[in-house]
Amino acid sequence: MKNYDIAVIGGDGTGPEVIREAIKVLEVVAAKHKFKLNFTHYDFGGTRYLQTGEVLPDSAVEELKKFPVILLGAIGHPEVKPGILEKGILLRLRFELEQFINLRPVKLYDERFCPLKDKRPEHIDFVVVRENNEGLYTGSGGFVFKGTPHEVAIQESVNTRRGVERCLRYAFEVARKRKNKRLTLCGKTNVLTYAFDLWERAFNEVGEKDYKDVKRDYAHVDATTMWFVKNPEWFDVIVTDNMFGDIITDLGAMIQGGMGIAAGGNINPEGTSMFEPIGGSAPKYAGKNVINPLAAICAGQMLLDFVGETKAAEAIEKAVIKVVRGKIESLAAGKMGYSTTQVGDMVAGMF
Ligand code: IPM
Ligand code: MN
Repeated sequence: MKNYDIAVIGGDGTGPEVIREAIKVLEVVAAKHKFKLNFTHYDFGGTRYLQTGEVLPDSAVEELKKFPVILLGAIGHPEVKPGILEKGILLRLRFELEQFINLRPVKLYDERFCPLKDKRPEHIDFVVVRENNEGLYTGSGGFVFKGTPHEVAIQESVNTRRGVERCLRYAFEVARKRKNKRLTLCGKTNVLTYAFDLWERAFNEVGEKDYKDVKRDYAHVDATTMWFVKNPEWFDVIVTDNMFGDIITDLGAMIQGGMGIAAGGNINPEGTSMFEPIGGSAPKYAGKNVINPLAAICAGQMLLDFVGETKAAEAIEKAVIKVVRGKIESLAAGKMGYSTTQVGDMVAGMF
């Protein structure tokens, strides 16, 4: 029987509640499809930090590197200054585990949950491949004359040919496996004339040389947000830098029905990858059993797909679709018509 070791970081706020439901579903699917999942739990997050002052010990990073995959709930605590946990846990893991891809599928399962008029599931089905290790996220830059009237703050976008190219290649591969085989580079070549010049050249060179079967397209980031709302059906796979990817995938999450359903993967194809619901820790709903666990369940689905359990992953998606289409009243926390536990039970009961 196949065996998979999974590190679990429930994290803060509603993280542990949604992860509990994701694990419930994963266990049922594993039994059904005859493989075994071994979960090892870690308590990193705001609560541990407030108690011990420790964000993420170096030894933990080394330990996590031994797992093929991590399932993450959410990071972010209202009593901890913004940035400490996000940088100290989430971004640190993304960087040190070299998860250079942030993969975010945007797929509408039921038109009732789309805020756009006349858009149905056939109109919203694309994938954003976000570069996850570079750009404005590297922490390059600094202050000069801090705290004085002459203060200067510089935050630099780092784009290496190697980092950009590996991201582009990953995106081309994703596009190649899809029906429409269309890859859109989302950038800002009219203003960011260094960074996106590199991106655009690499995009065309790599595409021309190794991915002639994939159609190439370009959209400025501002126009991309416009098309997300006006013509989301134009997109198949989008590749973009870290910051733009962060921004457009929140909009993507909204048009697919909201944070209750949006999942993502931080991927290192040769190392440790980490899957998460992208909605955050939602502290005001923590402990109330009202948060939507579907995003975490979908993160579990992405995880299984990633490790090669594609049939089991498809089964989870089908179950989620049934629950979304047939049962649930809303995808928003507190408005589902069911509790967190009940939604998890409904999905788990579909197999
Ligand atoms: C995300 C989040 C993170 C990011 C934050 C929490 C640092 O918004 O995963 O999109 O900016 O990448
Ligand atoms: Mn974000």
